[in-house]
Amino acid sequence: MERIETPALAQAFIDEQIAALRAQIGSGKVLLALSGGVDSSVLAALLVKAVGKQLVCVHVNHGLLRKGEPEQVIQVFRDEMDANLVYVDAVDRFLDKLVGVADPEQKRKIIGAEFIRVFEEEARKLDGNGFLAQGTIYPDILESGPVKSHHNVGGLPDDLNFELVEPLKFLFKDEVRVVGKALGLPDNMVYRQPFPGPGLGVRCTGAITRDRLEAVRESDAILREEFAKHGLEGKVWQYFTVVPDFKSTGVKDGVRSYEWPVILRAVNTRDAMTATVEPVPFDLLEHITKRITAEVPGVNRVLYDLTPKPTGTIEWE
Ligand code: XMP
Repeated sequence: MERIETPALAQAFIDEQIAALRAQIGSGKVLLALSGGVDSSVLAALLVKAVGKQLVCVHVNHGLLRKGEPEQVIQVFRDEMDANLVYVDAVDRFLDKLVGVADPEQKRKIIGAEFIRVFEEEARKLDGNGFLAQGTIYPDILESGPVKSHHNVGGLPDDLNFELVEPLKFLFKDEVRVVGKALGLPDNMVYRQPFPGPGLGVRCTGAITRDRLEAVRESDAILREEFAKHGLEGKVWQYFTVVPDFKSTGVKDGVRSYEWPVILRAVNTRDAMTATVEPVPFDLLEHITKRITAEVPGVNRVLYDLTPKPTGTIEWE
């Protein structure tokens, strides 16, 4: 198959898939878990073009999304594309279940299981025959590596009888992005860095608290804003902040403070199995440090993680 590298080839793919999707789906309903990541967003935009309001996009806000993400999903899909979007505010449900849970794998299990439960509730609201759209891409089929393991919504109970719709399954990531551009999705959605299913939950180490989670979200927003301003967005493979569950002594406005550190992480990789650290310019690190310590409540230090993978993993949990 020819690789999709140009807008013209993307358009040909889109036209072909629209016809195939209409033939498969007929007048049925299609359910889609729309996280706002590249694959689910491109899938949603394609399905909106093919079957319009027969598509039901479910965006679950589990409280572990980055700053501005739920708002952007609503703006792009509901306001601009006029898609049928169900927004589920499940923030309290998830965060209440996670209270006191410190083990990283246990946190992942709780987040994954609760996600299926919320999605299942929406799935049961669809009567009649149903289709389930999944943003499977070719590398997911080649090797079911760690990146997607918590994204998919396999695991729905057997009594729900959905036929799978997977129009992106023969595309590589870069091809999905070209298709996304051709479908009119904004650049910051199409060229978005990978984001794990458990989201900010694995960057608020140990037992998650709401105030420390906000420190992760706010510091991450500052890091992303500064990387975008300085031309690093789309160049560095993955970058984020971590707020560990310990405090250290500092001084703010002449007064002793006892607050969290923020750890910055910025790495490059081909396949996420090994990774190198991005040599972020020192003056930019200093600038980000100033902003985070001034703007993020509860934080008095900023550290840059210099550890490649191995020996570190990319995430801290
Ligand atoms: P690690 O930390 O294992 O991360 O070096 C490698 C890549 O996988 C992502 N990652 C996850 N993605 N669910 C996901 O969907 C997860 O539980 C998960 N854990 C790590 C991580 O962001 C990095 O891109």
